[in-house]
Amino acid sequence: MAELTRESWGKRSYFIFAALGSAVGLGNLWRFPYLCYANGGGAFLVAYVIGLFVIGIPWLLLEFGMGKYFASSAPGVFGGIGKKWEWLGWWPVWVAFLINTYYTVVMAWTLRYAVAAATVEWGMGKAGAEGAGDFFFGTVLQLSGGPDEIGAPVPALLIGLAIIWVVVFLVVHKGAKVIGPVSQVVMIVAWVFLAILVVRGITLPGAAQGLNNYLETDWSKLASPDVWFGAFSQIAFSLSVGMAGMYAYGSFIKKQGDVNNSAFITGFGDAATSFFAGFAVFSTVGFIMQALSIPVGEVATRSVGLAFITWPVAVSMMPGANAFFGVVFFTCLFLVGLSSAYFLAYGGTIAPLVDKFGWSRTKTAAGVCIVGFLIGILFTTNGGLYWGPDILDRAVSFYGLLITGALACLVVGWVFPASRLREYVNSTSEFHIGPWFDVMVKVVVPAGLLFVAVYGGFMQDIPESYGGYPRWASNVIWATLLVTLILSFVLGAMKTRGRRD
Ligand code: PHE
Repeated sequence: MAELTRESWGKRSYFIFAALGSAVGLGNLWRFPYLCYANGGGAFLVAYVIGLFVIGIPWLLLEFGMGKYFASSAPGVFGGIGKKWEWLGWWPVWVAFLINTYYTVVMAWTLRYAVAAATVEWGMGKAGAEGAGDFFFGTVLQLSGGPDEIGAPVPALLIGLAIIWVVVFLVVHKGAKVIGPVSQVVMIVAWVFLAILVVRGITLPGAAQGLNNYLETDWSKLASPDVWFGAFSQIAFSLSVGMAGMYAYGSFIKKQGDVNNSAFITGFGDAATSFFAGFAVFSTVGFIMQALSIPVGEVATRSVGLAFITWPVAVSMMPGANAFFGVVFFTCLFLVGLSSAYFLAYGGTIAPLVDKFGWSRTKTAAGVCIVGFLIGILFTTNGGLYWGPDILDRAVSFYGLLITGALACLVVGWVFPASRLREYVNSTSEFHIGPWFDVMVKVVVPAGLLFVAVYGGFMQDIPESYGGYPRWASNVIWATLLVTLILSFVLGAMKTRGRRD
């Protein structure tokens, strides 16, 4: 049975840490610094801060505020606006659930590497640096030649994945009251580890050159749509909005609790973490450039290549305590990933189901974790990298997030409407937001997201198939969107049996 009164964060700080935990993730380390470097340094930072004000924070405020208003997760929020909108609350639930199926696999890689780092398994010195790529693709992933060769699950990754889902289950099965304090610990430890990495990085030989690459400013870039695409897409992804979960996290705020300040703290805390992480990343990149005498263009500075090749290369070549810094790095990645994974599981998937069907939280959590694990097995196979973190990622964490987010802002902005939400959040918040908020929600956020989806998405993936994959593989992107949309209509049409207060 669902409870009679809604669960809540025991303390304000628990909510903030949980929200920050969901926002801070792999993207802060492996996407933001790269974008900054590739898009004109300081110019990118300007675009990012503007994006934070006009897109990120209004959107975050919307999700927290609407969740709190209806004391419900995403489907309850949209069902509350009108039964005919409930599907729009389910679509991001699918997005969240599917992201988690491969996000947890990437976490399994980090776990595998945390173990490997203890002995610097890929090798020390120049030999280790040269072998890091083969170790990743050959030994760890055992990657096949393409998406048509799925092969079999890689045992070590399968074990890692199982461990991660057990941990996720343990954190979420009692709901917000455990998620809050766990997030506080996870985030503090992650930040301490990040600080260790920054200090190690900036004291390495060659660090200064790497940091120059990170922050060297080219203002003319502000005229390029690429910079705005990079900034806006990163804001949407990094704040973990558009994935249903923030509505649920907002719904656990106590009736008299603040919304506005919390949204600002979350937005800026996440941005600050990204900016700080860039120092760890690019000082290390500079070290590799000097140690191997290669230009920055030859070092993988983003995504999977940064985390699983560039870092191991650096660890191999460090002057001392190599295993220590390797373990710290991969544990840090694991922790920031973990708090995002249980956010997706609980806020994004379990809370919506419990709210809708009135099922027991523990049983629902067990069901979601088991199904998430079973689907994730596909991504631990030899072809898993192609299907999960690449093709499915494009479908859900790019298109799914942007499309559901734009629609959600339009419906809340025009139907609910935005002014009512603003008055509501202002009534209990530490400071007031002005009518600018309405304009952002009704026009600017949807327009910004549409720009990202069209400019960085449709314009590329329609004329040429995504990622250079064969059409049949990249069409999975459109199929995923369509199937999840239909399933969302089905769920939205079903009767609500859970509590609604
Ligand atoms: N915000 C997380 C990050 O920056 C990514 C994430 C996406 C987390 C989706 C949860 C869900 O890495």
